[in-house]
Amino acid sequence: MESLIGLVNKIQRACTVLGDHGGQGMSLWEALPSVAVVGGQSSGKSSVLESIVGRDFLPRGSGIVTRRPLVLQLHKTQSGAEYAEFLHAPKRRFTDFDDYILTSDKNIIYAAAVRKEISDETDRITGKTKQISNIPIHLSIYSPNGLHLYLHLYYILNAIVNLTLIDLPGLTKVAVEGQSDSIVEDIENMVRSYVEKPNCIILAITPANQDIATSDAIKLAREVDPSGERTFGVLTKLDLMDKGTNATEVLEGRAYRLQHPWVGIVNRSQADINKNVDMIVARRKEREYFETSPDYGHLASKMGSEYLAKLLSQHLELVIRQRIPSIISMINKTIDELNAELDHIGRPVAADGGAQLYMILELCRAFDRVFKEHLDGGRPGGDR
Ligand code: GDP
Ligand code: NA
Ligand code: MG
Repeated sequence: MESLIGLVNKIQRACTVLGDHGGQGMSLWEALPSVAVVGGQSSGKSSVLESIVGRDFLPRGSGIVTRRPLVLQLHKTQSGAEYAEFLHAPKRRFTDFDDYILTSDKNIIYAAAVRKEISDETDRITGKTKQISNIPIHLSIYSPNGLHLYLHLYYILNAIVNLTLIDLPGLTKVAVEGQSDSIVEDIENMVRSYVEKPNCIILAITPANQDIATSDAIKLAREVDPSGERTFGVLTKLDLMDKGTNATEVLEGRAYRLQHPWVGIVNRSQADINKNVDMIVARRKEREYFETSPDYGHLASKMGSEYLAKLLSQHLELVIRQRIPSIISMINKTIDELNAELDHIGRPVAADGGAQLYMILELCRAFDRVFKEHLDGGRPGGDR
């Protein structure tokens, strides 16, 4: 089972290295589910993603902090310490998630090695600007049993396929100083290129202290997923609503109905981040917030980051089970296509595209083999 997960990861990586836009990799990559956070700038996207993973590692803050897509893969290892690895620095292991380097620069918190490397790698392409780049940063987190990943996500990780999560720059309305005039459109197009893929599960992040009618997330989600079958409405910043108002209309599905229920969230505030409030404490506070809230008490069991992670896991499992037949046929098709392509360009030895194709072919073959063994050997998604 472990080898299967490893293979999927390798194939996905190989496919993204080759490029998502056409070529052999595309169809396979698109068959595997991913989760992307979408929403306006500072709506809480990076915070929500961290909560789901159960780990602090993303740059967060006011203004445009996330300036390149971050493609995160969660891997489960059998033992050893937890670590992170970037595709752009494959030989370096980052073990430092939580220790903060307390320097702060205009609301951007440079803390912890993983987070700092995301910031630095963003700057390597864009400079220390407010510009964006659509070149993704690939990050893998390797974690042994029982460490940080959510119980429900374990289940998925233990099941068929790894989980890919994508953090994206926020949608904006106007270009600010230091940004090109086309930035609003550029960001929207970049985000759309991820969420329009039918395998992409959309977390539409909407801050509760804004009118839902102005939600960029919902607008884009509705455009690419009109039926709402892969959209999860996430209402953040419930704690920041004006006194005397509440979000029950939205949370109970009366203001804007989605196929999946809305989930309300209370992430850490900027003050919490500055004070280094850790995730466990933040979760406890969030739970208490809902349990003691006069407005949301009756909904408490269906609110909060933990519930969102659970909902998402259940959905992923369903999706993956439905996709098994098409993933298998996709792999077989890819193998055939790769073979044809290789026949056409000749079997490669050099470090050109041919060698990469060959590598993917080998990976696909191995995947197919292990996958079939797995299916023969037990029910899909079962325990190892
Ligand atoms: P992103 O730009 O959408 O990725 O948003 P971030 O996750 O970086 O958060 C932007 C800012 O909003 C940070 O200062 C967070 O602390 C703050 N924030 C996010 N969610 C909440 C929330 O639910 N409540 C409060 N009080 N602050 C939040
Ligand atoms: Na932000
Ligand atoms: Mg962000």
